[in-house]
Amino acid sequence: MDMRVPLKIAEPVPVQDRLQRSLRELRVSVIDRCNFRCTYCMPADSLNGRGVFLPLEKLLTDHEIETLVRAFVKLGVRKLRITGGEPLLRPGLPALIHQLAAIEGLEDIALTTNGVMLPRLAGDLAAAGLNRITVSLDTLDEEVLARMSGGRARLNDILAGITAAEVAGFQQMKINTVVQCGVNDHTIMDLLDHFRGTPHSVRLIEYMDVGNSNHWSVDDVVPNGKWVSTIGNRWPIRPVISHNPAETAQRFEYLDGQGKIGFISSISQPFCGGCTRARVTADGLFYTCLFANRGTNLMPLIRHGDNPHDLIDRIAAVWAGRGDRYSEQRDLPREERQKVEMYRLGG
Ligand code: GTP
Ligand code: 5AD
Ligand code: SF4
Ligand code: SF4
Repeated sequence: MDMRVPLKIAEPVPVQDRLQRSLRELRVSVIDRCNFRCTYCMPADSLNGRGVFLPLEKLLTDHEIETLVRAFVKLGVRKLRITGGEPLLRPGLPALIHQLAAIEGLEDIALTTNGVMLPRLAGDLAAAGLNRITVSLDTLDEEVLARMSGGRARLNDILAGITAAEVAGFQQMKINTVVQCGVNDHTIMDLLDHFRGTPHSVRLIEYMDVGNSNHWSVDDVVPNGKWVSTIGNRWPIRPVISHNPAETAQRFEYLDGQGKIGFISSISQPFCGGCTRARVTADGLFYTCLFANRGTNLMPLIRHGDNPHDLIDRIAAVWAGRGDRYSEQRDLPREERQKVEMYRLGG
């Protein structure tokens, strides 16, 4: 009789951090370049000269991104979000999505984009297996949009992108709107009105102190609580009960059935307690918080490691040591330190 114990297929190994948070979502930045210069993310005046962006040969290759995602899936990740910079600037993105969509255990692949390249790419992305698209759009006012995007965005291009994505089959999209006091807050009701009656939901995002170059001040933040009453006075709304503690947005629906909106309130109501998100930059740095100042370089293990378990073990060890809850501790005194830039981390 053969007494050998049969080799088991490896089950996902759940891992928890120091605050008992599991690892569920992965956000991978696939390129740090962008065709916009949003003042809250990549202000043009902060990019002094050349050499700011990663040379293309420093980026993880498609195969390396697949290796990385497979390792995270082994540790419990079920949702992947592709970010940038502007992810559609990465050459051959649909082929990469196609590769990732084949990974067993990965249930959802989403993308955050500024939308202008969707007319060219939405069909290919849908065919490749992309599940969801989020488009960033801060205002419908052409002048305000120009100011917020560093002169790069044109409204019609973004709206054409949204239409192209609808045609490609992305029926329910999220529209991300960063609100800055005195910049675009007077245009928010028009934006909401535009998307009322569509399946897409606008999410109002409190302007955050990410990176080092956007000159953030708390005076620039409009607390989302203000919007709940302003919007409710015009179009009555009620909260949508969520069973997902990892959700970034509090969702509401219009009582007249005209759709949903969301509020992402990282400043006024931090949500670190449910933060199950890991982030990796386009060159393989693993960050456990959007506001971190240091990442763990996974590139050597991805590019030169001979045993996939070494990569998995390294990620697990970093996650197990994680105690981040920056947004909950924002007001505590802390030493000045450089944070990673938003366009490197993809939000
Ligand atoms: P869904 O899977 O659709 O819920 O996506 P998402 O809301 O997690 O991702 P998206 O890229 O649309 O992010 C929306 C906004 O929330 C962006 O401004 C992000 O920077 C911000 N955000 C996402 N995750 C976190 C987080 O962990 N902490 C903080 N403070 N902000 C976050
Ligand atoms: N505060 C809040 N949201 C931001 N984003 C970029 N910079 C900031 C900031 N300083 C948003 C973008 C995009 C998402 C990934 O992050 O608008 O929708
Ligand atoms: Fe580009 Fe998005 Fe940053 Fe704007 S917020 S500069 S579109 S990466
Ligand atoms: Fe997660 Fe850091 Fe955001 Fe808190 S501040 S929710 S720990 S990424």
